[in-house]
Amino acid sequence: MAKAKTQFICQNCGTVHTRWAGKCEGCGEWNTIVEEDPMGGIGGGPGKTPKKGRAVTLTSLSGEIEEAPRIPTGMAELDRATGGGFVRGSAVLIGGDPGIGKSTLLMQAAAALSRRGHRIVYVSGEEAVAQVRLRAQRLGAADTDVLLAAETNVEDILATISEGKRPDLVIIDSIQTLWSDTADSAPGTVTQVRTGVQAMIRFAKQTGATMVLVGHVTKEGQIAGPRVVEHMVDAVLYFEGDRGHHYRILRTVKNRFGPTDEIGVFEMSDRGLREVSNPSELFLGERNEKAPGAAVFAGIEGTRPVLVEVQALVAATSLGTPRRAVVGWDSSRLAMILAVLEAHCGVRLGQHDVYLNVAGGYRIREPAADMAIAAALVSSLAGLALPADCVYFGEVSLSGAVRPVAYTGQRLKEAEKLGFSAAVFPAASSDLPKGSAGKWTEVDSLPDLVARIAGSRLKAPADQEDA
Ligand code: TYD
Ligand code: MG
Repeated sequence: MAKAKTQFICQNCGTVHTRWAGKCEGCGEWNTIVEEDPMGGIGGGPGKTPKKGRAVTLTSLSGEIEEAPRIPTGMAELDRATGGGFVRGSAVLIGGDPGIGKSTLLMQAAAALSRRGHRIVYVSGEEAVAQVRLRAQRLGAADTDVLLAAETNVEDILATISEGKRPDLVIIDSIQTLWSDTADSAPGTVTQVRTGVQAMIRFAKQTGATMVLVGHVTKEGQIAGPRVVEHMVDAVLYFEGDRGHHYRILRTVKNRFGPTDEIGVFEMSDRGLREVSNPSELFLGERNEKAPGAAVFAGIEGTRPVLVEVQALVAATSLGTPRRAVVGWDSSRLAMILAVLEAHCGVRLGQHDVYLNVAGGYRIREPAADMAIAAALVSSLAGLALPADCVYFGEVSLSGAVRPVAYTGQRLKEAEKLGFSAAVFPAASSDLPKGSAGKWTEVDSLPDLVARIAGSRLKAPADQEDA
């Protein structure tokens, strides 16, 4: 049977189709299918004869383990996210929105490594040499020995970095600009990106140089070129943050050599990224302790406690359907908390608009924030400020019960360290730190929490309106 000469590949999800269609069946996106040559790519091509395989020695699971040799950058937040530094011979993908600061972060890392005597090559495919130099000057990196090239052709890049002494670290900014002579499709397509990345990974494995690849994220939040690249590399880090705010988070989503879910926190200044060793201070920023509707949530990011303020505004609505708006949290989770408050706690919210905001542009991903959010909502509705020195955490279930969450001890210790002397969390929480002077309140249900905050004030809304 003759093999189809071309394939149609969705640029969003990588699904291969036999013919062109307007809509991808894999991901449902429109106009993402592009014709590509499946034979392209290094090592591909119809001229290749299959070679006879070579048997490898099989071995057992036990035996000596070598610690992966790492190159720490000395930037504590970056080293934390990578699990102690870049691993030699590995490929790391750094994804993020355009303009979020990936090039800035990597230029700073390159400068730091170069100062430690490492040979660093920075290949820019997006900016001209002059532009990169300008950024380096601004970051105070211009006096380092970082080697710079502006190139996008895969073969040329490989020839350049193979010449002379082996580099310790190569930065490719970005993979979307890579193109290879061996792949027949247009630059930026899945085949081109995949071919380029494959060649770079092979170089890393062969020489022991670390390869750092920059990838832009599409509007759907996937690294364009897309998931096909993520599984090929050893580690995937996302650089994220809100454009309107200065802080940036480097989040590990995959790491073959270390923990995932680890974060590094940075702040963007006019002289580049500054490391933030205590993120809680950033997110507690300017608190108005007397205002109702604000609660401090003791959260965990990876293994690291982060305190952040959640703000709620509950106001009588003038619309037929009240508004619910959320920034920094899951809106369906808010709907759930509102439903539980209505159904089990006698809190009437049907005639109220509800706005919820997480301070500092931070995004909470933990269900453990339920209790803090419920506390903020109740506080706003009742018009009673919560105690300024108190933190909240715990998961709420649909029955109105509250459930203990992991890392109770770490959350409480962080709160104490930052001067919070009280905490409200679910009963039956384990691993409480011993000998603490903190005032801890264990609640066993959401109605219990509501009663502690507002007393009987929300029970009879009709009376209140008369008053
Ligand atoms: P950049 O690293 O070019 O983003 P990316 O590579 O992810 O596309 O950063 C771009 C933004 O960062 C740009 O809007 C300007 C800002 N910036 C600063 O605020 N301070 C600085 O010192 C630098 C270098 C950039
Ligand atoms: Mg860039």
